[in-house]
Amino acid sequence: MASIYPDSPADRPVVIVSNREPYQHFRKDDGTVGWSPTTGGVAVALDALMRERGGVWIAHGSGNADRAVVDANDRVRVPPDSPAYPLRRLWLSPEEESHYYEGFANEGLWPLCHEAHVRPVFRAVDWEHYQRVNERFAAVIEQELPDHSAPVFIQDYHLALVAPALRARCPHARTALFWHIPWPHQDRLRICPWRKELLAGLLANDLLAFQLARDRRNFIAAARDELGADVARGTVRLAGHVTTVEAVPIGIDYDRIQQIARDSALPDDMHRLAAELRIRTPVVGVGVDRLDYTKGIPERLDALDLLLSRRPDLRGRLTFVQIGVPSRSTIDSYAAVEAAIDRKVEELNRRYPQAGGPIRYRKSALKIKRLVALFRLANFCVVSSLHDGMNLVAKEFVAAREDLDGVLVLSELAGAAQELHDALAINPYDVEGFARALEHAVDMPADERQRRMRALRRVVAGRDVFRWASDILEGLDSLDPSARPPAPGRALPPRRRASAFRASPGVFEPS
Ligand code: G6P
Repeated sequence: MASIYPDSPADRPVVIVSNREPYQHFRKDDGTVGWSPTTGGVAVALDALMRERGGVWIAHGSGNADRAVVDANDRVRVPPDSPAYPLRRLWLSPEEESHYYEGFANEGLWPLCHEAHVRPVFRAVDWEHYQRVNERFAAVIEQELPDHSAPVFIQDYHLALVAPALRARCPHARTALFWHIPWPHQDRLRICPWRKELLAGLLANDLLAFQLARDRRNFIAAARDELGADVARGTVRLAGHVTTVEAVPIGIDYDRIQQIARDSALPDDMHRLAAELRIRTPVVGVGVDRLDYTKGIPERLDALDLLLSRRPDLRGRLTFVQIGVPSRSTIDSYAAVEAAIDRKVEELNRRYPQAGGPIRYRKSALKIKRLVALFRLANFCVVSSLHDGMNLVAKEFVAAREDLDGVLVLSELAGAAQELHDALAINPYDVEGFARALEHAVDMPADERQRRMRALRRVVAGRDVFRWASDILEGLDSLDPSARPPAPGRALPPRRRASAFRASPGVFEPS
């Protein structure tokens, strides 16, 4: 099949595949249909990529009015207010959602990959549904694939088995998968009864990318030891198929946040938000997270408690705004952390009742403009993950601080800490050290704040989401197609390496 696209690979439309869709439609109280963008760094980042490059995005249609707005091919053009590309929705039955998404992906793989002391649960029935749903995604990709040279960019741990299923249908499809979360050490990976199948499934991709060199190392070691795969020069070869494995840390849409931060409407937005959140103190801190046990929110509240107990002068002078976006709430471990946070917020506000209590807790997502306004109201932002693949909130805060003010307090256990050296590093397990860092953030002189923020902004601006995506997609393009599938026993042809990987500052391990 001839390509219908222009020659330059960077201009070519891309097929993005993810579990979570970038836009959801829902039924409003008055019966009409509304829509909302999916918040969270990854969806925002990939949406920006699609608006720039075009193509098709395939994802699970999870909104309660999603079916009402699609055409006969289950497609709807998005963003709904300024259509730029088609979103192809795939429907899951309640049973599939429960076993594939809640079960295998989020009660199994998520805690397996995050060291947050939540026991992974692996059930055969979840695994069966996971395999089946991954095959269903592959079938939809086959329908949507414009031609066999269109790059297919698969997202995350929900879809580890899409590539082999797609390859069975379209042997020439070219796929890259980005694993957004940490990849565990082998000792932990062994908990998973189906680790060999997952490893082999991921190795059906042409390119496999992780956030950090650590994740890449862990994956390669497991592929070698568990599967006996051949490892050479950044590639892994299994049963005649060669996969390039790289570390390509994700960035954010820096320019878009800059634009919002420079908009003349910003001061008004800040004013409105401060009134809405009843912020009347000279010192403001923020935390913005999904309500997830990996984010270290109870630990953050404990550190704030310790700070206030030691610094009576801050009582009534400090407000901490916590935005907690409900997430996976039907899973027990999520319900438990949400309840623990509710309790701690209540306790803190009771213990320090001055000026309405120190914590303003909102359990809903903020649109990007209001998020930037909130970041600009803050003296400091806290990211205290117990373990995190990257954490884009840390980078978004930095991008919003065009005024070169504000302090980022960042867990050394978040992937972002590998790049953001000028943040105040904390260990969320060390409440004393954490409280001291908060105190440092509150008291930090203006010249130190500026020096740190300037350095942080250089790093974040230098590797935005477009750079990340083009590193991966150009990396996929630059792989020698004749290397796949090589004839059995034949020596591998010399491959053109993805030079973007090597040139990028902030890519932690080149090979
Ligand atoms: C993490 C994952 C994403 C996921 C997001 C939101 O960032 O890496 O793949 O989409 O969380 O989680 P949810 O379960 O709501 O899609």
